[in-house]
Amino acid sequence: MSTHDTATPLRLAVVVGSVREGRQGRAVADWFLGEAAADPGLDLDVIDLAEADLPLVLPGYGGTPSPETAAVLGDISPRLAAADAFVVVTPEYNHSFPASLKNFIDWHYTQWQAKPVGFVSYGGLGGGLRAVEQLRLVFAELHATTVRDSVSLHGPWSGLAEDGTPRDADVCAGAAKGMLGQLAWWGRVLRTARAERPYAG
Ligand SMILES: Cc1cc2nc3c(=O)[nH]c(=O)nc-3n(C[C@H](O)[C@H](O)[C@H](O)COP(=O)(O)O)c2cc1C
Repeated sequence: MSTHDTATPLRLAVVVGSVREGRQGRAVADWFLGEAAADPGLDLDVIDLAEADLPLVLPGYGGTPSPETAAVLGDISPRLAAADAFVVVTPEYNHSFPASLKNFIDWHYTQWQAKPVGFVSYGGLGGGLRAVEQLRLVFAELHATTVRDSVSLHGPWSGLAEDGTPRDADVCAGAAKGMLGQLAWWGRVLRTARAERPYAG
């Protein structure tokens, strides 16, 4: 596999971080998935946290999760492990990211390592950027690398059309393309590196 193997599609897992009733998050994610689907080099998976019921209580060190939780993890964890790159779709709650997202991140560890993470954020005037900056710290702890550019949707309640597409569609599509380009570069390089040498983390 060459450093920039483009023949093998990049497996991109898109994590939908909001689980709130009446959430905008799924519409935002669906818009982004439509943009990403235009790239034939991507193999897309969607992990919607509204469908991943992971408890707040983590097992003790060396402990095992309940059978119900093990079943959820049995579906999701292998998909995270198989991913070459991630996009996290996050709103901003009280100048940070939602608890549902932190809980999901904390249930996993090696699955994030030596892989790139991009962000699609939304919120009020800040467009979710404060949530993104805090997530960069979290993913650094997990040995993941976050890409510089992100997609930021300001005021989704007024900035999103009823079909879930942003009203400033051209600007947002351009931002998505830029972020995906950086993600693909890192994703392919790190995939090759992980295959050549297990990550030392
Ligand atoms: C608990 C809570 C806190 C929020 N705090 C902020 C905030 O600090 N900054 C902001 O821009 N928007 C804030 N908002 C607005 C949300 O970003 C906006 O409603 C967004 O659509 C929420 O995502 P969701 O619909 O997927 O749940 C907050 C919303 C909630 C529910």
